[in-house]
Amino acid sequence: MAIEGPVAIILAAGQGKRMKSERAKVLHEVCGRPMISYVVDAARGAGAKTIIVVVGYAADQLYEALDGEPDIRFAVQAEQLGTGHAVKVCRPLLEGYEGPILVLVGDEPLLRPEPLADLLDRQAHERAACLLGTAEVDDPTGFGRILRDSAGRFLRIVEERDCAAEEKAIREVNPSCYVFELPVLWDALEQIGTSNAQGEYYLTDAPEQLNHMGRKVVALNVLSAHDILGVNTRQHLAQAAEIMQSRIQDHWMTEGVSIVDPRNTYIDGRAVLGRDTVVRPFTVIDGAVMVGVGCKLGPFAHLRPGTELADGVEVGAFVEVNRSTLGAGTVARHLAYLGDARVGENVNFGCGAVTANFDGEVKHPTTIGDDARIGSGAVLIAPVEVGRGAVVGAGAVVTKNQDVPPGATVVGVPARRLES
Ligand code: UD1
Ligand code: CA
Repeated sequence: MAIEGPVAIILAAGQGKRMKSERAKVLHEVCGRPMISYVVDAARGAGAKTIIVVVGYAADQLYEALDGEPDIRFAVQAEQLGTGHAVKVCRPLLEGYEGPILVLVGDEPLLRPEPLADLLDRQAHERAACLLGTAEVDDPTGFGRILRDSAGRFLRIVEERDCAAEEKAIREVNPSCYVFELPVLWDALEQIGTSNAQGEYYLTDAPEQLNHMGRKVVALNVLSAHDILGVNTRQHLAQAAEIMQSRIQDHWMTEGVSIVDPRNTYIDGRAVLGRDTVVRPFTVIDGAVMVGVGCKLGPFAHLRPGTELADGVEVGAFVEVNRSTLGAGTVARHLAYLGDARVGENVNFGCGAVTANFDGEVKHPTTIGDDARIGSGAVLIAPVEVGRGAVVGAGAVVTKNQDVPPGATVVGVPARRLES
């Protein structure tokens, strides 16, 4: 199948030894999504039509995580011989393709599409065999350094491990955001060796090699220090998550959501919140949760994956909602657990109401009709249905399959119908 350009290659074959993990490094999550997903989004956002992900360590985990994305292809790097080698293994997939390729690394989740699109534009404009985006950072530790001549022209990249003492002080670094021209890159990669501290084929040697071959190589300091945080350790992962969280919150605030205490709020990167919703402190939203307009969340609310709140829902202190739908105007203000529940509109949950959805083996659903009232401390043992406008008394235990008819009132343990 012919490859549609522009093409992006994302390097993701490494184990990430410094993470000390069984999981591929690029699958560690930042605000609920594997970090490579953000890089894929950035590449797409920059205009890449085909994305080749280089996999190696724990390749199966990557296939699974990126399954069903039609613009993604995989190249396998069976042995991790270095970033240069990782690009080389893409060659068979790119046979016959001529034009620019954007090369990125999968461990930089904070990359944004705009500067990458800019790099692609500039490479086309400069007609460079390699256009390298660089960044100036306060602390260059861990990055390859950019060496320039006295006229400011790019000379080469030196890895930190291979740096001389004075080179270590250089604060212009290589974020691993390159645009290379094909096919000339293949020739350059054939010529790079492994005489470096790690004995690997370094992609960072390719720009210098292209220089030697008389090709145009341009290094432009156009990337921001905030965008290029490379996650090599768990500490970096936490730093990336902190920055990503503030971006996510900033986005929702721009969309009209109030976040009372941003530092003590966690919103998953896949969640969607309606305007005029107020999120109070210590609220945690995990997964692709949907929150309607004008909802009140928290303090201390926990919304878990598969949850959908319609407009005007209130979920208050120490309330956990899991895989559940709550209709408009429904309120659970204190100490409730709602799991696998389909709840209608304007339902009121008293303090401590619980849907007991798990029988020790499987999860069961609870259905609650509009305007029902579930008393304080009531337990609904699933599977069970509470009809529209029904009332479950405080402390009642509605046992499984003992559905409460619409309009009925039940009380006691086990719950019995109260004749009026
Ligand atoms: C690399 C760069 C460094 C740059 C930094 C920016 C090289 C030699 N060094 O260093 O100049 O400042 O990124 O983040 O390129 N990978 C493979 N196959 C391999 C080796 C690595 O696919 O054989 C992948 C890894 O999975 C990772 C990425 O390439 O996603 C970068 O590898 P990593 O080991 O993190 O490189 P750095 O030491 O950070
Ligand atoms: Ca890295």
